Amino acid sequence: MIRLDVNGTTHSLDVEGEMPLLWVLRDVLNLRGTKYGCGIGQCGACTVHFGGRAVRSCQTPVAAADGAQITTIEGLSADGTHPVQLAWAEIDVPPNPSRNGEVKLRLQGALLGSLSDSQTR
Ligand code: FES
Repeated sequence: MIRLDVNGTTHSLDVEGEMPLLWVLRDVLNLRGTKYGCGIGQCGACTVHFGGRAVRSCQTPVAAADGAQITTIEGLSADGTHPVQLAWAEIDVPPNPSRNGEVKLRLQGALLGSLSDSQTR
């Protein structure tokens, strides 16, 4: 049994310890905001906060996260108003993993645009 605290909710999960954290989040806990991109730890689409650090969940066996506190994009704010959540929604992140490079560029642009807008007000 693996115990995860995801976005403030504790889950006890009967999953294989070698299963990547990414698939536990997406397929077991149905948190689809964490994306699959490259699967080799290069693109960052699967990044979550784990123990206060940004980690690539595609490269993290769920057993390594046993007992840890994890924050996904859904957990950044309860009402979806965190700037990253707003940017994610604004660019309408596609479910197609092959477009994650585009997602990152558009998200980066949206965030930089937000910073520029707020700095000029
Ligand atoms: S899916 Fe690309 S780094 Fe994890």
